[in-house]
Amino acid sequence: MQSSFMIEQQSVSPSPRRTFATTALVGVLGLFAVACIYNSGDTSALRTGYAGFAAFQTPSAATQATSAYSPTGFRGMAAYTNQAAPESIVPRSNQPVMATPNSPKIYDGPYAAQLIETANAMVAPGKGLLACDESTGTVGTRLEANGMENTEEWRQAWRNLLFTTKGLGDYISGAILFEETLFQNDPDGKPFVDVLNSKGIIPGIKVDTGLKPLFCAPGENWCTGLDSLNDRAGKYYAQGARFAKWRTALKIDVAAGQPTDLAIEVASQDLARYARICQENGLVPIVEPEILIDGSHDIETTARIQERVLTTVYGKLRENGVLLEGSLLKPSMTVPGVECPDKSDPASIAAMTVRTLERCVPPRMPGVTFLSGGISEEDSSIYLNEINKVEKTCNCRLTFSFSRALQSSCIKAWQGKDENYEKAQSLLLKRAQANSEASLGKYVPGSQPSSEESLFVKNYVY
Ligand code: 13P
Repeated sequence: MQSSFMIEQQSVSPSPRRTFATTALVGVLGLFAVACIYNSGDTSALRTGYAGFAAFQTPSAATQATSAYSPTGFRGMAAYTNQAAPESIVPRSNQPVMATPNSPKIYDGPYAAQLIETANAMVAPGKGLLACDESTGTVGTRLEANGMENTEEWRQAWRNLLFTTKGLGDYISGAILFEETLFQNDPDGKPFVDVLNSKGIIPGIKVDTGLKPLFCAPGENWCTGLDSLNDRAGKYYAQGARFAKWRTALKIDVAAGQPTDLAIEVASQDLARYARICQENGLVPIVEPEILIDGSHDIETTARIQERVLTTVYGKLRENGVLLEGSLLKPSMTVPGVECPDKSDPASIAAMTVRTLERCVPPRMPGVTFLSGGISEEDSSIYLNEINKVEKTCNCRLTFSFSRALQSSCIKAWQGKDENYEKAQSLLLKRAQANSEASLGKYVPGSQPSSEESLFVKNYVY
């Protein structure tokens, strides 16, 4: 009995001159193919060997030979050897194979449900965040500019004024604190954490330790604080913090080619590591890749850079297994550089901001809490309001997490004087209400007292 394999072989006639060489080559190729099959079970070696042999005979025979080693041919041989024919003869090495999953699992540890609940509470309809996490140096500059000193006592008095504003909890869901404040008491000895909780305001904590120069990228920065974060995060949670913030800042300078790929890569990777460490410790991470408004670039340039940054950030968050449902994004609004001649109107800024976010942010992320970035109090509210009027495809909430745009008129009114205390608190409440309305697209510009003054500070540090 002959197999079809043998029959096909016989149809190829070698020339007499080549008989010896042919025999030798067949032997070598045959041994090679058998060895390969034995080792890997990959039948491609047999086909290669047979086709190589045929090519030696005549070029056209190679094609014939390859097709001769067809399913039919193989089945014929299988029948000859009395074995079941395989389903397919496509070599295993050419078959699509599922990649071995080796990226981390999305966080599903003991805090997962709490993280999701907290993140959603932080962006509850009509609510936003009071960012009062200025470092000792930055808050000191503000105190000194308004007739006070940068002492712990004055910092405590200022934060106490903010937190004891009546009705603040109607508009503010959470307060971002600096470490000193998280562990501080009010002047009567009650922990600030308890003061906030009693008003329904969730305490949060700034956990980055500031920006440092990024070597190889002159003029750019990276954000520090990761190596000690795991230890600190556990203590912050024990003290009552339920969310965290990490602010990294990127600068646009088209002439200098900034931000560089390196700066974006480092910023995104560190944000993702931070986010995962926080979730492991029960803190909702607010991911804040600020695009500074310094510069003369137009709004399209901002959008292009911001898309690149956000896309990279969300790629890294995925690579680090961050639970998006238990995280929030704190971006800048998509605005032109502060020195750009074309200022862009609020409706264009809103449309560009929503477009940028929808191009980059996965829909499972529950909310965006914008920073104000040096935009005036009134403009920040107007832009947020317009943003919430744009028709969106995503369900995530778009609200505020302002520092300068919530506190500026308040601290100016106060000046550290008892007689101005109530007035200052009422101005804070008005701005909180204005931004609450803006987060619902219901703010009527000018309906609340505010300052139109630009709050831009060149190369702002926090
Ligand atoms: P601004 O709103 O002043 O830009 O502050 C942003 C911030 O990161 C505060 O946490």
